[in-house]
Order: sequence, then structure tokens, then C-alpha cells
Amino acid sequence: MSAFGDAQGAQSVELTLTEAASLLSGADMASTKALTEHGIPSVRMTDGSNGLAMNLPDFSGKVPATCFPTSSALAATWDPALVSRVAAAIAREAAAAGAQVLLSPGMNLKRSPLGGRNFEYYSEDPLLTAELAVGFVKGVQGEGVGACVKHYVANNQETDRMRVSADVSERALRELYLRAFEEVVSRAKPWLVMASYNKVNGTYVSEDERLLTGILRDEWGFDGVVVSDWGAVDDRVRALRAGLDLEMPSTSGASDAQVIAAVEDGTLDAAFVHRSARRVAELARRAADSRRPTGDPPAPVESAADLAITAAERSVVLLRNEHGVLPLAPRAGVAVIGAYASAPRFQGGGSAGVQPKQPAGSIVDAVGARHAGTVEYAPGYAADGLTRDPALLDQAISVAATADVAIVVVGSPESAESEGYDRADLDLPEAQNEIVAAVAAVARSTVVVIVSGGPVRTEAWRTSVDAIVSTGLAGQGVSLGLASILVGDADPGGRLAETWPCELADTPSFLSFPGEGGHSVYGEGIFVGYRGHDRINGAVAFPFGHGLSFAETRFEDLAVVESASGWSVDVTVVNDSERAAREVVQLYVEAPELAARRAPRALVGFAAVAVAPGQKTQARIRVPRRALKRWDEAAAGWTLDSGIHTFVAARSSRDAVLRHEIDVVGDDIRMPLTAASTLVEWLGHPSVGPALIAAVTEADPTGRTTGMLTNPMAVLMIGGLPIGRLAVDAANALTLDLLDRVLDSHMG
Ligand code: BGC
Repeated sequence: MSAFGDAQGAQSVELTLTEAASLLSGADMASTKALTEHGIPSVRMTDGSNGLAMNLPDFSGKVPATCFPTSSALAATWDPALVSRVAAAIAREAAAAGAQVLLSPGMNLKRSPLGGRNFEYYSEDPLLTAELAVGFVKGVQGEGVGACVKHYVANNQETDRMRVSADVSERALRELYLRAFEEVVSRAKPWLVMASYNKVNGTYVSEDERLLTGILRDEWGFDGVVVSDWGAVDDRVRALRAGLDLEMPSTSGASDAQVIAAVEDGTLDAAFVHRSARRVAELARRAADSRRPTGDPPAPVESAADLAITAAERSVVLLRNEHGVLPLAPRAGVAVIGAYASAPRFQGGGSAGVQPKQPAGSIVDAVGARHAGTVEYAPGYAADGLTRDPALLDQAISVAATADVAIVVVGSPESAESEGYDRADLDLPEAQNEIVAAVAAVARSTVVVIVSGGPVRTEAWRTSVDAIVSTGLAGQGVSLGLASILVGDADPGGRLAETWPCELADTPSFLSFPGEGGHSVYGEGIFVGYRGHDRINGAVAFPFGHGLSFAETRFEDLAVVESASGWSVDVTVVNDSERAAREVVQLYVEAPELAARRAPRALVGFAAVAVAPGQKTQARIRVPRRALKRWDEAAAGWTLDSGIHTFVAARSSRDAVLRHEIDVVGDDIRMPLTAASTLVEWLGHPSVGPALIAAVTEADPTGRTTGMLTNPMAVLMIGGLPIGRLAVDAANALTLDLLDRVLDSHMG
């Protein structure tokens, strides 16, 4: 029997095993089962990371909704408050359509730029991902709708996604892949966590008790429902025992029957069934308590359509701008070239796809409406984005040749970015590279606008065009948002949330992505994204964090105040220009590499600020002590290393502006010394090392043993030996007894 309280916990009802088991799988594709006789209603869930993506009842399409920038585009804003506003708007539309849970945000790290769903995810960096996901969850739940963070965890590829094992070290798992989930679970308290399809180190996440219960609930305090990704359950009974509460979608009662049979034949303790049933019932209660009447959404704080445009504008990243070609000179004759300029891509494919309420419009029309000079258009390549058309190419060249500025709109084709498969490469279709080169050869100035859900290879023309702009997949506001940047009505405040490599082969995961034989070995360890690029100091097309402003800003006065919980860092941003500026102050740490390898710089905080012309503003960034910790493999725990750490205020991971050293007193966890510890570990211990030397000096008055242990060359050679093995050699004074005595007197 499981007991359920009503909203106030005043009364409780008892469920039979059959009733409890029935709550553990879906009623259909999107809802949980109700137990009306016990006052437990059904909960309706829907996708919706960049806009409500609710299927129509007959699955013939989706409910029309406002289409916002995809998470990867929105991540370029580095603005959790804006993400929160967008999330709240999505939640309002979800609630109005009758859903109580939004299956978002997707927050997997971008281990490789080839990830097919990268457009649904935020970043290659866990801190940026965490801050944006916290914003999203708070925005959704502030509207009384539950958020479901996904896909927990290490679901970093689409290839073989239902079976592949992410073989990843504990350190990389803790510092990167789990890290963002940990923050969001502990700070934003999502109602649900979705267990991903893949395995981690050989075990399906949906059956991994350590991940679903040990880490998620016992360590992080998660108190909501763990739901399977749709169809992710391989063995229902094992999954239930591990902590997977709700299986989705419906299994037509088959898995409920398996659960009941397992209890009846004694292989499953009924307590697991009631434990998960209680959590699902609690979710239903939460949802019912905050349910709004369906129908028209309440009067919005801001129009969703306007917010979609603002968000698109703020997602734009200006990657290159030579000779001040942007913003467009007011009277410049402009040629807009590229089929994607008349029908821009604005979202990716798969379950997140939105049926936009308002059309994305055309970039040509949007620029035409904002720009005072002439605007001409030539498609340049076929509408599919792939096919070369010599007649269109020739026409585009002649239009470009007479213009002051040619804006070529290119992008990855629709088929390249979707749930279900990974990208094959980073290349733009040849027809598009050809047109960029041809236009750049004849135009007075060339601006390339890239519409894509992730980085594309720009090597063919990166340094021969004047400006490069990335819009991301920016939702229905893409055209108007982009136009206001191109004409200079707004400052491009977007900054890359992922590295744009020169070549795919430069990316840290290149050699092992997407794996083979059912395994994806995360060989790059913690060196994902910029951590890896920076570690080898390899060339990149555009570094993590990069993005240019039209204004001229300076960072001044990096001031650090320490407290018991961490550091408060202030940076003054001065706008020396006559334009309003948007800036993102990025704060990285350079940590000492005494005990473990570290990324040269790791993001520990950031602040997006607006600075009026000629004004200054202060960006305040709080860095908790936790942000400087690393996972220690040997100790199986977090540790803060002592020593000089440097805070770096920067404009990208490669563009340091201000530096400030702090002397950290850490916790320096040390593994207990034993006979299996190496000679170097013994000698390196601050009190045991000197005590050992003193003890052998006394035990061997010839000085031979002391000489061996203090001769640098000898220590280099034998320092890696477990000390117990040296202690059996009669040629020196080390004995197991002596080691014990030293330990006893110096370790207490
Ligand atoms: C996707 C999830 C999605 C679910 C429900 C799955 O295929 O991986 O992200 O929430 O379907 O549509």
C-alpha cells in the first residue's frame, strides 16, 4: 500500500499494488495515468525548448506557437534573465494548450560540434549551460508549469543513441557532464529529470542506481520524478529498482504487468513500486495545484512575438567586422544574396520542432524595411541550399558587382541538423562556398551571414570577406532581429557559447566521436571544447566567448573581495563610443596544476551588461569556492587545491583583458599513505616526508639510504615504486616496521 496526502497532507489514501504500478507508465504518448477515485489526476507533458512543440491530437502537425531561438542560439546571449523570459513565454503557451509539464530544457554538453541535437543544447561549457538552464527552469516553473531537465546524462551524440555507452572518466563526468545538472537540480528544483537513452560506462542510465538515486537524490537532493526518455527503458524492473519512476510513453499496460509479476514472484520489493508511485502522485498534485484554466493565456507581460524578435536580435554574434563595414552605412547600395535570405532557416528538426504562429519572414524584406539605401536580391543558389545553379550564380555576381555591400546569406541545410542523427561534417554545401567566393571576388564589401545551429567551416573564405555574422537558428524573429543588427539599430551582444574550429579534425573529441562497436570513448577527458583547444593552443576560427560589438568598450579595475563562501569580482565596463553597447564580461580562472591537469582557463562566472554611450557600468560576478574545485579521482571527491589562482576578465577564452591573482587556501585532500603509496607520495607529504628522511638517517648511519632518497636522479627513477617494494630490499634501511613507525608518529 502507498499512502497519498492531499494538497495539505491532511488526509491520505491507500493504493493497492496494481493501482500503484499503474502510475509508473504513461497513459498515452504524453500523459500519465489518472486514478480519479483517489483524486490523482493525469499530468500532460509536452516538448518545447524553443517554443511549444505540442502534437495535434491526430499527430498531423503541431499546435501553432511562438517560435523562439533554439537553445544554442539563445545561449549566445549569455543572459539567463532573457532565457527566463523566453521560458516563461513558452510555459504560458504550454499551460494555455493544457500541458502541465514542459519537457525542457535540453542541457547536454556539446562534446563535438557534430552532435545532431546541438542546436537544442546550450554550450560546450558546464557553467554557462548551468546558468542558462537555471534561468529556463525558473522561468517555466514561475508560471506554474513543471520543467523536465534532459537528457540526464552524457547523451552527447545521436549516433546509436538508444544503445551507445558513453565511456567517460569519473572526473569528466563530475566536472563537465553532471555539473550543469547538479547546479540546476540544487538551485532551480525542476519537477522532473529525464533519463537519457544511452548507457554510461556500460549501464543504461535508466537502470543506473548510482546516477538516478545515489547522485541525483542522495547527493543533490532531487525530490521530483525521474521520467524515461521516450522508449528508453530496456528492463522495467531493473529501471524501477534503480530509481526510474515513470516510464514514457504508454506500454499498453505491459510494463505495469511486469512490475506486478516481479513483486509477486519475490524478485522486486513492493516498496520500490510504492516509492515511485508516491512521487508520480506528488507530481500530479503539484500540477493540479498550479493548473491554470485552459484557453487564452493570461495577459502577457510582453508580447511573445515581440520577445521572439528581441531574443533573435540578442542571439546574433558578430564574428568579424573589418573596415567598419557593419553597421551598414545609411545610404549604402546593398545586394542581399542567397536563397536562405528569402526563406531563412530558423529551427532544427525532431521533437523540438515548432509550428510557428508568425512566419519568419524574409531577411531581404526585413533589411529593405530598415535600410535607407537600395536593397536588391539575388537567390544565388537553389532553394534547397544544396544545389548549384550556374544561372543564379551569374545573376548574383552581377548584382553583387554593382552594390556597395553584398550580404551573402548561407547556412547548413535543413537536413543537416536534426534529432536522430549526427552531422557528417562542418562544411557548408559547395554551392554556398562557391557563391561566397564569387561574390567576395567582385563586391566592394562582402558580409557573410551564417544561419546554422552550430559552427560551420569558414576556412575557404574567412579572411577574404569583410564581415561574418552568425544568427544561430533564431526562431520566427530571425529576419527582423538580424536586420536591426545589420543596420545598427542594436549592438550585437551575442558571444559564442561554443568554439568554432578551423577544421573538424582540430576538435578535442575528433578521434573518438561517435565511437564504434556500441562504445563512445570520451578520450579527451575534461578537455572538451575550449578546454582542449586551449590546452594544445591550436588555432581556432573563432574562440569560445568571442563576439564583437559596434561600440568601443574597455574593461577596467578588476577588484576581488574574498568571503567565506567565495569571491566577489567587480569589473568596470567603460563605453568610449557614441553607441549603446552590450558587453559580456567573462571571468575565467587559471588554476595551479600541482595535483592534476587543468584546463588553461575555465569559465567561473560572467555578466552581460548594457552600457550607454560614454558611460560606465560595473559588472559583479560571484564565484563560489565550489567553482574552483576539481574532482579528485583517487579520493573520489571534490577538492580545492591551495596555491595561486588567477582570475582573468576576458572577452573570450583566448582574449584576456585583466588579471588578478588570489592565494587560495584549499582543502588539499590527500590519500592516506600506505605501503602501496609511491616513494614520491611519501616524500611529498609535508610532515611524513621529512620524518621518513630523519628515520632512515638514524637507521642507516652509513648515509646510503638517505642518499638514495634524496638524490634527485634516483628519486626520478624509483619514485614511482610503491614504497613497500623498496622496503623488502636488504640493501637499504627501509623496512615495513620503520614505515609503520613513521606513519604512527606523524599521522596520529
Ligand atoms: C526525445 C526527447 C523528447 C521525447 C518526447 C524523445 O525522442 O529524445 O527529447 O522529449 O522524445 O517527445
